[in-house]
Amino acid sequence: MTKTRDSFHSRIGFVLAAAGSAIGLGNIWGFPTQAANNGGGAFLFVYLIVTILLALPALYAEIYIGNQAQKNPIGALKEACQDTSKRLGKYGGLVGMTGAVMMLSFYTIVAGWMFAHALSPLAELMGLMDISQWLSTSSIQRNLLFTPLFILLGAAIIHQGVNAGIEKWSARLMPLLIIMLIALIIYILGQPGAEKGLALYLIPDWSQVTNPKLIVAAMGQAFFSLSIGVGGMMVYGSYMEKGKDIGKLVISITALDTCIAFMAGLLIIPAIFVAQEAGIEVFKNNQLIGEGQLIFNILPQLFNAMGTAGLFVASAFFMLLSIAALTSTISSTEVPVAYLVEDKSFSRRKATWLVSLIVLIASMTLIAFFDSLFAVVIRVLTTIMQPLSCLFYFIVVGWLWKRGNKLRDVSLQKTNKLLRWWANYLRFVCPVLLSVVFVNVAILN
Ligand code: PFF
Repeated sequence: MTKTRDSFHSRIGFVLAAAGSAIGLGNIWGFPTQAANNGGGAFLFVYLIVTILLALPALYAEIYIGNQAQKNPIGALKEACQDTSKRLGKYGGLVGMTGAVMMLSFYTIVAGWMFAHALSPLAELMGLMDISQWLSTSSIQRNLLFTPLFILLGAAIIHQGVNAGIEKWSARLMPLLIIMLIALIIYILGQPGAEKGLALYLIPDWSQVTNPKLIVAAMGQAFFSLSIGVGGMMVYGSYMEKGKDIGKLVISITALDTCIAFMAGLLIIPAIFVAQEAGIEVFKNNQLIGEGQLIFNILPQLFNAMGTAGLFVASAFFMLLSIAALTSTISSTEVPVAYLVEDKSFSRRKATWLVSLIVLIASMTLIAFFDSLFAVVIRVLTTIMQPLSCLFYFIVVGWLWKRGNKLRDVSLQKTNKLLRWWANYLRFVCPVLLSVVFVNVAILN
Protein backbone atom coordinates (compact mmCIF):
# COMPACT_ATOMS: atom_id res chain seq x y z
CA MET A 1 0.00 0.00 0.00
CA THR A 2 1.35 3.44 -0.83
CA LYS A 3 0.93 6.18 1.72
CA THR A 4 -0.18 9.60 0.52
CA ARG A 5 2.59 12.10 1.08
CA ASP A 6 1.94 15.34 2.85
CA SER A 7 2.28 18.31 0.54
CA PHE A 8 2.02 22.05 0.14
CA HIS A 9 -1.47 23.14 -0.77
CA SER A 10 -0.50 25.96 -3.06
CA ARG A 11 2.36 27.41 -5.07
CA ILE A 12 2.48 30.34 -2.71
CA GLY A 13 2.66 27.89 0.19
CA PHE A 14 5.78 26.41 -1.36
CA VAL A 15 7.35 29.79 -2.09
CA LEU A 16 6.71 30.97 1.46
CA ALA A 17 8.08 27.82 3.05
CA ALA A 18 11.15 27.79 0.78
CA ALA A 19 11.73 31.49 1.38
CA GLY A 20 11.28 30.84 5.10
CA SER A 21 14.01 28.23 4.83
CA ALA A 22 16.31 30.49 2.88
CA ILE A 23 15.83 33.62 4.98
CA GLY A 24 17.42 33.15 8.35
CA LEU A 25 20.49 33.81 10.44
CA GLY A 26 22.58 33.40 7.29
CA ASN A 27 21.07 36.57 5.88
CA ILE A 28 20.91 38.71 8.97
CA TRP A 29 23.74 37.41 11.13
CA GLY A 30 26.09 35.83 8.57
CA PHE A 31 25.90 38.06 5.49
CA PRO A 32 26.55 41.47 7.09
CA THR A 33 29.40 40.07 9.21
CA GLN A 34 31.04 38.49 6.16
CA ALA A 35 30.47 41.59 4.05
CA ALA A 36 31.95 43.89 6.71
CA ASN A 37 35.00 41.64 7.08
CA ASN A 38 35.55 41.07 3.37
CA GLY A 39 35.60 44.54 1.94
CA GLY A 40 31.91 45.52 2.01
CA GLY A 41 30.96 46.46 -1.53
CA ALA A 42 33.41 44.00 -3.12
CA PHE A 43 31.85 41.15 -1.16
CA LEU A 44 28.36 42.28 -2.10
CA PHE A 45 29.34 42.39 -5.78
CA VAL A 46 30.92 38.92 -5.80
CA TYR A 47 28.04 37.54 -3.75
CA LEU A 48 25.55 38.72 -6.35
CA ILE A 49 27.58 37.23 -9.22
CA VAL A 50 28.03 33.87 -7.46
CA THR A 51 24.34 33.80 -6.57
CA ILE A 52 23.27 34.27 -10.18
CA LEU A 53 25.89 32.06 -11.84
CA LEU A 54 26.00 29.15 -9.37
CA ALA A 55 23.66 29.29 -6.39
CA LEU A 56 20.49 29.90 -8.38
CA PRO A 57 21.19 27.01 -10.79
CA ALA A 58 22.08 24.77 -7.83
CA LEU A 59 18.79 25.69 -6.16
CA TYR A 60 17.01 24.83 -9.39
CA ALA A 61 18.78 21.46 -9.65
CA GLU A 62 18.04 20.61 -6.02
CA ILE A 63 14.34 21.49 -6.19
CA TYR A 64 14.05 19.80 -9.60
CA ILE A 65 15.41 16.48 -8.31
CA GLY A 66 13.03 16.51 -5.31
CA ASN A 67 10.04 17.57 -7.38
CA GLN A 68 10.53 14.95 -10.09
CA ALA A 69 11.20 12.13 -7.65
CA GLN A 70 8.51 13.09 -5.07
CA LYS A 71 10.69 11.49 -2.42
CA ASN A 72 12.91 12.49 0.49
CA PRO A 73 16.47 13.48 -0.57
CA ILE A 74 18.01 10.04 -0.07
CA GLY A 75 15.19 8.31 -1.95
CA ALA A 76 15.22 10.99 -4.63
CA LEU A 77 18.95 10.80 -5.28
CA LYS A 78 18.81 7.00 -5.23
CA GLU A 79 16.13 7.11 -7.91
CA ALA A 80 17.97 9.72 -9.96
CA CYS A 81 21.15 7.63 -9.87
CA GLN A 82 19.47 4.27 -10.54
CA ASP A 83 20.94 3.95 -14.04
CA THR A 84 24.46 4.41 -12.72
CA SER A 85 24.56 3.31 -9.10
CA LYS A 86 21.83 3.56 -6.50
CA ARG A 87 24.47 3.37 -3.85
CA LEU A 88 26.12 6.53 -5.11
CA GLY A 89 22.78 8.33 -4.86
CA LYS A 90 22.25 7.02 -1.37
CA TYR A 91 25.67 8.18 -0.18
CA GLY A 92 25.16 11.56 -1.84
CA GLY A 93 21.88 11.90 0.07
CA LEU A 94 23.51 10.80 3.30
CA VAL A 95 26.24 13.44 2.95
CA GLY A 96 23.49 16.05 2.57
CA MET A 97 21.64 14.70 5.59
CA THR A 98 24.82 14.84 7.66
CA GLY A 99 25.18 18.44 6.49
CA ALA A 100 21.64 19.16 7.66
CA VAL A 101 22.45 17.86 11.15
CA MET A 102 25.74 19.81 11.20
CA MET A 103 23.83 22.93 10.21
CA LEU A 104 21.34 22.36 13.00
CA SER A 105 24.08 21.74 15.56
CA PHE A 106 25.43 25.29 15.36
CA TYR A 107 22.33 27.02 14.09
CA THR A 108 20.29 26.13 17.14
CA ILE A 109 23.04 27.56 19.36
CA VAL A 110 23.04 30.90 17.54
CA ALA A 111 19.25 30.91 17.42
CA GLY A 112 19.28 30.41 21.19
CA TRP A 113 21.43 33.55 21.53
CA MET A 114 18.87 35.47 19.50
CA PHE A 115 16.05 34.24 21.67
CA ALA A 116 17.89 35.18 24.86
CA HIS A 117 18.59 38.66 23.45
CA ALA A 118 14.90 39.02 22.59
CA LEU A 119 13.94 38.31 26.19
CA SER A 120 16.65 40.42 27.82
CA PRO A 121 15.00 43.83 27.09
CA LEU A 122 11.67 42.48 28.34
CA ALA A 123 13.29 41.43 31.61
CA GLU A 124 14.76 44.93 31.87
CA LEU A 125 11.33 46.47 31.32
CA MET A 126 10.04 44.39 34.21
CA GLY A 127 12.86 45.65 36.40
CA LEU A 128 14.60 42.25 36.49
CA MET A 129 18.03 43.71 35.86
CA ASP A 130 20.10 40.69 36.93
CA ILE A 131 18.13 38.36 34.69
CA SER A 132 18.33 40.83 31.83
CA GLN A 133 22.11 41.03 32.24
CA TRP A 134 22.39 37.24 32.35
CA LEU A 135 20.28 36.91 29.21
CA SER A 136 22.43 39.32 27.23
CA THR A 137 25.78 37.89 28.33
CA SER A 138 27.35 34.88 26.64
CA SER A 139 27.69 31.89 28.94
CA ILE A 140 27.63 28.10 28.86
CA GLN A 141 24.61 28.12 31.19
CA ARG A 142 22.70 30.34 28.79
CA ASN A 143 23.57 28.00 25.90
CA LEU A 144 22.50 25.00 27.97
CA LEU A 145 19.08 26.55 28.51
CA PHE A 146 18.32 28.26 25.22
CA THR A 147 19.67 25.76 22.69
CA PRO A 148 17.38 22.92 23.92
CA LEU A 149 14.52 25.41 24.21
CA PHE A 150 14.92 26.36 20.59
CA ILE A 151 15.18 22.73 19.46
CA LEU A 152 11.95 21.98 21.34
CA LEU A 153 10.15 24.88 19.72
CA GLY A 154 11.16 23.68 16.23
CA ALA A 155 10.13 20.10 17.00
CA ALA A 156 6.74 21.26 18.23
CA ILE A 157 6.04 22.87 14.85
CA ILE A 158 7.53 20.11 12.72
CA HIS A 159 5.65 17.24 14.23
CA GLN A 160 2.38 18.87 13.14
CA GLY A 161 3.35 18.01 9.55
CA VAL A 162 4.18 19.90 6.40
CA ASN A 163 0.87 21.45 5.68
CA ALA A 164 -0.46 22.17 9.14
CA GLY A 165 2.93 23.20 10.51
CA ILE A 166 5.41 24.55 8.04
CA GLU A 167 3.18 26.22 5.49
CA LYS A 168 1.03 28.03 8.01
CA TRP A 169 3.89 29.27 10.14
CA SER A 170 5.92 30.51 7.20
CA ALA A 171 2.93 32.40 5.83
CA ARG A 172 2.36 34.11 9.15
CA LEU A 173 5.90 35.00 10.01
CA MET A 174 7.59 36.09 6.81
CA PRO A 175 5.81 39.39 6.10
CA LEU A 176 6.30 40.46 9.70
CA LEU A 177 9.99 39.94 9.36
CA ILE A 178 10.29 42.11 6.25
CA ILE A 179 8.29 44.99 7.76
CA MET A 180 10.46 45.05 10.88
CA LEU A 181 13.65 45.04 8.86
CA ILE A 182 12.53 47.99 6.72
CA ALA A 183 11.53 50.03 9.79
CA LEU A 184 14.94 49.45 11.39
CA ILE A 185 16.81 50.42 8.21
CA ILE A 186 14.89 53.69 8.03
CA TYR A 187 15.83 54.42 11.64
CA ILE A 188 19.53 53.57 11.25
CA LEU A 189 20.03 55.52 8.05
CA GLY A 190 18.94 58.67 9.86
CA GLN A 191 21.72 58.35 12.47
CA PRO A 192 25.10 60.14 12.33
CA GLY A 193 27.86 57.99 10.89
CA ALA A 194 25.51 55.86 8.79
CA GLU A 195 26.76 57.39 5.52
CA LYS A 196 30.26 55.95 6.06
CA GLY A 197 28.82 52.47 6.37
CA LEU A 198 26.65 53.04 3.35
CA ALA A 199 29.67 54.02 1.27
CA LEU A 200 31.67 50.99 2.40
CA TYR A 201 28.76 48.73 1.58
CA LEU A 202 27.70 50.14 -1.75
CA ILE A 203 30.97 51.24 -3.38
CA PRO A 204 33.09 48.18 -4.19
CA ASP A 205 36.86 48.26 -3.91
CA TRP A 206 37.49 46.59 -7.27
CA SER A 207 40.98 45.43 -6.31
CA GLN A 208 39.34 43.06 -3.81
CA VAL A 209 36.93 41.46 -6.26
CA THR A 210 39.37 38.79 -7.50
CA ASN A 211 40.63 37.88 -4.03
CA PRO A 212 40.16 34.08 -3.83
CA LYS A 213 39.43 34.21 -0.09
CA LEU A 214 36.63 36.64 -0.74
CA ILE A 215 35.22 34.54 -3.61
CA VAL A 216 35.20 31.39 -1.47
CA ALA A 217 33.57 33.22 1.44
CA ALA A 218 30.93 34.68 -0.88
CA MET A 219 30.19 31.29 -2.42
CA GLY A 220 29.84 29.56 0.95
CA GLN A 221 27.60 32.37 2.13
CA ALA A 222 25.43 32.21 -1.01
CA PHE A 223 24.96 28.43 -0.74
CA PHE A 224 24.19 28.63 2.94
CA SER A 225 21.81 31.52 2.47
CA LEU A 226 19.80 29.69 -0.18
CA SER A 227 19.76 26.53 1.96
CA ILE A 228 21.26 24.44 -0.82
CA GLY A 229 23.41 21.32 -0.58
CA VAL A 230 21.86 19.68 2.47
CA GLY A 231 18.57 18.47 1.00
CA GLY A 232 16.30 21.03 2.66
CA MET A 233 15.14 22.52 -0.61
CA MET A 234 14.98 19.08 -2.22
CA VAL A 235 12.52 17.87 0.38
CA TYR A 236 10.39 21.00 -0.05
CA GLY A 237 10.49 20.51 -3.83
CA SER A 238 9.19 17.00 -3.29
CA TYR A 239 6.18 18.35 -1.40
CA MET A 240 5.13 20.37 -4.42
CA GLU A 241 2.95 18.85 -7.11
CA LYS A 242 5.11 17.03 -9.66
CA GLY A 243 6.09 18.76 -12.87
CA LYS A 244 5.39 22.35 -11.80
CA ASP A 245 7.41 24.93 -13.67
CA ILE A 246 9.98 25.63 -11.01
CA GLY A 247 12.00 28.24 -12.91
CA LYS A 248 9.93 31.19 -11.78
CA LEU A 249 9.70 29.87 -8.22
CA VAL A 250 13.47 29.55 -8.00
CA ILE A 251 13.93 33.09 -9.27
CA SER A 252 11.42 34.44 -6.71
CA ILE A 253 13.07 32.63 -3.80
CA THR A 254 16.55 33.74 -4.85
CA ALA A 255 15.41 37.34 -5.34
CA LEU A 256 13.64 37.45 -1.99
CA ASP A 257 16.54 35.88 -0.12
CA THR A 258 19.10 38.14 -1.77
CA CYS A 259 16.95 41.21 -1.07
CA ILE A 260 16.77 40.35 2.62
CA ALA A 261 20.52 39.76 2.82
CA PHE A 262 21.07 43.08 1.05
CA MET A 263 18.66 44.79 3.45
CA ALA A 264 20.37 43.22 6.46
CA GLY A 265 23.65 44.67 5.18
CA LEU A 266 21.93 48.00 4.77
CA LEU A 267 20.97 47.83 8.43
CA ILE A 268 24.02 46.30 10.10
CA ILE A 269 26.94 47.87 8.20
CA PRO A 270 25.77 51.46 8.72
CA ALA A 271 24.95 50.45 12.32
CA ILE A 272 28.61 49.51 12.83
CA PHE A 273 29.66 53.00 11.84
CA VAL A 274 26.92 54.66 13.85
CA ALA A 275 28.29 52.77 16.86
CA GLN A 276 31.82 53.87 15.99
CA GLU A 277 30.65 57.49 15.75
CA ALA A 278 29.21 57.06 19.24
CA GLY A 279 32.71 56.16 20.48
CA ILE A 280 32.49 52.37 20.52
CA GLU A 281 35.58 50.50 19.28
CA VAL A 282 34.47 48.38 16.35
CA PHE A 283 37.47 47.47 14.21
CA LYS A 284 40.95 46.30 15.18
CA ASN A 285 43.51 45.87 12.36
CA ASN A 286 40.75 46.23 9.81
CA GLN A 287 38.91 43.24 11.24
CA LEU A 288 35.67 43.49 13.15
CA ILE A 289 36.03 42.87 16.84
CA GLY A 290 34.31 39.71 18.02
CA GLU A 291 33.22 38.62 14.52
CA GLY A 292 30.32 36.22 15.18
CA GLN A 293 29.30 38.39 18.11
CA LEU A 294 29.02 41.47 15.88
CA ILE A 295 25.31 42.05 16.12
CA PHE A 296 25.30 41.34 19.85
CA ASN A 297 28.10 43.85 20.44
CA ILE A 298 26.87 46.63 18.24
CA LEU A 299 23.11 46.58 18.13
CA PRO A 300 22.21 46.55 21.84
CA GLN A 301 24.33 49.71 22.25
CA LEU A 302 22.33 51.35 19.51
CA PHE A 303 19.04 50.25 20.93
CA ASN A 304 20.13 51.64 24.31
CA ALA A 305 20.56 55.03 22.72
CA MET A 306 16.86 55.01 21.83
CA GLY A 307 15.82 55.06 25.49
CA THR A 308 12.86 52.98 26.67
CA ALA A 309 11.51 52.65 23.12
CA GLY A 310 14.83 51.00 22.31
CA LEU A 311 13.98 48.13 24.64
CA PHE A 312 10.91 47.32 22.55
CA VAL A 313 12.84 47.72 19.31
CA ALA A 314 15.63 45.47 20.59
CA SER A 315 13.21 42.81 21.68
CA ALA A 316 11.32 42.98 18.38
CA PHE A 317 14.52 42.82 16.36
CA PHE A 318 15.93 39.77 18.12
CA MET A 319 12.51 38.16 18.08
CA LEU A 320 12.51 38.69 14.33
CA LEU A 321 15.81 36.88 14.08
CA SER A 322 14.55 34.02 16.25
CA ILE A 323 11.53 33.67 13.98
CA ALA A 324 13.69 33.68 10.87
CA ALA A 325 15.91 31.04 12.47
CA LEU A 326 12.92 28.90 13.31
CA THR A 327 11.61 28.65 9.75
CA SER A 328 15.11 27.74 8.55
CA THR A 329 15.54 25.14 11.26
CA ILE A 330 12.28 23.55 10.19
CA SER A 331 13.47 22.82 6.64
CA SER A 332 16.79 21.31 7.73
CA THR A 333 15.08 19.09 10.29
CA GLU A 334 12.60 17.98 7.66
CA VAL A 335 15.43 16.25 5.73
CA PRO A 336 16.12 13.43 8.23
CA VAL A 337 12.48 13.41 9.40
CA ALA A 338 11.16 12.77 5.87
CA TYR A 339 13.77 10.03 5.40
CA LEU A 340 12.81 8.25 8.61
CA VAL A 341 9.08 8.52 7.89
CA GLU A 342 9.23 7.42 4.25
CA ASP A 343 12.06 4.91 4.17
CA LYS A 344 12.20 3.62 7.74
CA SER A 345 8.47 3.59 8.54
CA PHE A 346 8.73 5.88 11.56
CA SER A 347 5.69 7.86 12.64
CA ARG A 348 6.17 11.58 12.06
CA ARG A 349 6.06 12.24 15.77
CA LYS A 350 8.71 9.62 16.59
CA ALA A 351 10.97 10.72 13.75
CA THR A 352 10.78 14.35 14.86
CA TRP A 353 11.72 13.56 18.44
CA LEU A 354 14.54 11.22 17.42
CA VAL A 355 16.05 13.81 15.08
CA SER A 356 15.65 16.51 17.72
CA LEU A 357 17.50 14.30 20.19
CA ILE A 358 20.36 13.76 17.72
CA VAL A 359 20.54 17.51 17.08
CA LEU A 360 20.53 18.14 20.82
CA ILE A 361 23.47 15.79 21.32
CA ALA A 362 25.34 17.38 18.40
CA SER A 363 24.75 20.92 19.62
CA MET A 364 25.71 20.03 23.19
CA THR A 365 28.98 18.62 21.83
CA LEU A 366 29.60 21.92 20.06
CA ILE A 367 28.86 23.82 23.26
CA ALA A 368 31.25 21.61 25.22
CA PHE A 369 34.10 22.12 22.70
CA PHE A 370 33.00 25.52 21.48
CA ASP A 371 36.38 27.13 20.81
CA SER A 372 37.75 24.27 18.78
CA LEU A 373 34.58 23.11 17.00
CA PHE A 374 32.11 25.92 16.37
CA ALA A 375 33.88 27.89 13.61
CA VAL A 376 35.31 24.74 12.05
CA VAL A 377 31.90 23.09 11.66
CA ILE A 378 30.55 26.22 9.98
CA ARG A 379 33.52 26.41 7.63
CA VAL A 380 33.52 22.74 6.69
CA LEU A 381 29.78 22.80 6.02
CA THR A 382 29.60 25.99 3.97
CA THR A 383 32.85 25.91 2.05
CA ILE A 384 33.27 22.15 1.54
CA MET A 385 30.15 20.05 2.05
CA GLN A 386 27.54 22.34 0.55
CA PRO A 387 29.55 23.13 -2.62
CA LEU A 388 30.42 19.42 -3.01
CA SER A 389 26.76 18.42 -2.70
CA CYS A 390 25.80 21.04 -5.27
CA LEU A 391 28.45 19.72 -7.64
CA PHE A 392 26.89 16.30 -7.15
CA TYR A 393 23.41 17.66 -7.95
CA PHE A 394 24.70 19.21 -11.20
CA ILE A 395 26.32 15.93 -12.21
CA VAL A 396 23.20 13.96 -11.31
CA VAL A 397 20.86 16.25 -13.25
CA GLY A 398 23.20 16.63 -16.22
CA TRP A 399 24.81 13.24 -16.58
CA LEU A 400 23.84 10.40 -14.25
CA TRP A 401 20.07 10.56 -14.33
CA LYS A 402 18.69 9.20 -17.59
CA ARG A 403 15.15 7.82 -17.22
CA GLY A 404 12.51 10.40 -16.40
CA ASN A 405 14.87 13.35 -16.39
CA LYS A 406 13.15 15.86 -18.63
CA LEU A 407 15.91 18.39 -18.26
CA ARG A 408 18.44 16.08 -19.85
CA ASP A 409 15.99 15.14 -22.59
CA VAL A 410 15.40 18.79 -23.33
CA SER A 411 19.11 19.43 -23.74
CA LEU A 412 19.12 16.89 -26.55
CA GLN A 413 16.04 18.29 -28.33
CA LYS A 414 15.69 21.18 -30.73
CA THR A 415 12.46 22.56 -29.20
CA ASN A 416 12.18 25.29 -26.56
CA LYS A 417 15.43 27.16 -27.03
CA LEU A 418 15.52 28.81 -23.62
CA LEU A 419 15.03 25.58 -21.72
CA ARG A 420 17.62 23.83 -23.88
CA TRP A 421 20.09 26.62 -23.19
CA TRP A 422 19.37 26.36 -19.46
CA ALA A 423 19.73 22.58 -19.42
CA ASN A 424 23.08 22.83 -21.18
CA TYR A 425 24.20 25.51 -18.76
CA LEU A 426 23.45 23.16 -15.84
CA ARG A 427 25.14 20.22 -17.57
CA PHE A 428 28.31 21.81 -18.86
CA VAL A 429 29.03 25.20 -17.35
CA CYS A 430 27.97 24.81 -13.72
CA PRO A 431 30.03 21.74 -12.84
CA VAL A 432 33.15 23.28 -14.40
CA LEU A 433 32.60 26.66 -12.74
CA LEU A 434 31.97 25.08 -9.36
CA SER A 435 35.00 22.81 -9.70
CA VAL A 436 37.21 25.81 -10.44
CA VAL A 437 36.02 27.57 -7.28
CA PHE A 438 36.28 24.34 -5.35
CA VAL A 439 39.90 23.79 -6.31
CA ASN A 440 40.53 27.27 -4.90
CA VAL A 441 38.82 26.24 -1.66
CA ALA A 442 41.01 23.18 -1.40
CA ILE A 443 44.13 25.27 -1.96
CA LEU A 444 43.02 27.85 0.58
CA ASN A 445 42.13 25.32 3.22
N1 PFF B 1 19.37 29.54 4.59
C1 PFF B 1 19.42 29.58 6.03
C2 PFF B 1 19.95 30.92 6.46
O1 PFF B 1 20.35 31.71 5.62
O2 PFF B 1 19.96 31.18 7.65
C3 PFF B 1 20.26 28.47 6.60
C4 PFF B 1 19.88 27.09 6.13
C5 PFF B 1 18.59 26.63 6.28
C6 PFF B 1 20.84 26.28 5.55
C7 PFF B 1 18.22 25.36 5.85
C8 PFF B 1 20.50 25.01 5.11
C9 PFF B 1 19.17 24.57 5.27
F1 PFF B 1 18.82 23.38 4.85
